[in-house]
Amino acid sequence: MLKLQDIRLTFHRGTVNERRALDCVNLHLSPGDFATVIGSNGAGKSTMLNVIAGSYEADSGKILLDGEDITPRKEYKRANKIGRLFQDPLKGTAPNMTIEENLGLAYLRGKKRGMGSGLKKTDEAFFKETLACLGLGLEDRLKTQVKLLSGGQRQALTLLMATIVTPKLLLLDEHTAALDPKTALQIMRITDGIVRENQITTLMITHNIKDALFYGNKTVVMSQGRVVLILEGEERAGMTVERLMQLYSANTQDAFSDKMIL
Ligand SMILES: Nc1ncnc2c1ncn2[C@@H]1O[C@H](COP(=O)(O)OP(=O)(O)OP(=O)(O)O)[C@@H](O)[C@H]1O
Ligand SMILES: [Mg+2]
Repeated sequence: MLKLQDIRLTFHRGTVNERRALDCVNLHLSPGDFATVIGSNGAGKSTMLNVIAGSYEADSGKILLDGEDITPRKEYKRANKIGRLFQDPLKGTAPNMTIEENLGLAYLRGKKRGMGSGLKKTDEAFFKETLACLGLGLEDRLKTQVKLLSGGQRQALTLLMATIVTPKLLLLDEHTAALDPKTALQIMRITDGIVRENQITTLMITHNIKDALFYGNKTVVMSQGRVVLILEGEERAGMTVERLMQLYSANTQDAFSDKMIL
């Protein structure tokens, strides 16, 4: 479903600020794979997701999505195949528009019907039903402006917008990191439910190693712009946080931050 081949990216090449962010990254996800991504600060995790989404252009390498070479494709042309969530709950929704309008935009964009065709009554019923699945009571607040929602509610809505038309790929960049622990767990469970139910191929960056091993079926470990380890199958099933830390130290020169272990 997703193939990254020899992706390299250096920022500010030839200047004192030169920084090699991605150094020959190779990654292959099969349809329905839910891969968690871990690595220390600056390992290149967000850059890798940015390159996949087309926000950054790689210096070299190839990106294949669903059998198509999307490397030369601009970000906005990849957007209808790729759903994305960031750490900041304020990104991804239009604050002055209602829940219904936000969902409507996401739905029409995905369906390629264009704004002109508008939404139908059946769409409203569908939105209510979909919102009810979140278990946050948002189905009764369709006319509420999104800026009035809490961070967690807003992130849940963004998740719904990113997946209301099932994307080929879902990219999550620490999307629960800015939420309080209870809300973060709630959003993580909702995410897991949506991803599994729709079998969405997903890459999820997290700083929490427990989460990285608990959710999904693969764990990608990055260090200094490289994928240094991919855990899957029995090896992953039997993996503990302690063992993964040992493996991490053996494969990288990076130190573990406390945040990753907690
Ligand atoms: N737009 C940019 N311009 C210049 N350098 C950048 C840019 N984005 C990232 N970098 C650099 O590339 C490297 C990788 O950054 P990246 O944000 O991908 O790390 P990360 O693994 O997501 O880290 P974190 O866990 O802190 O989010 C870092 O050294 C960073 O400073
Ligand atoms: Mg990052």
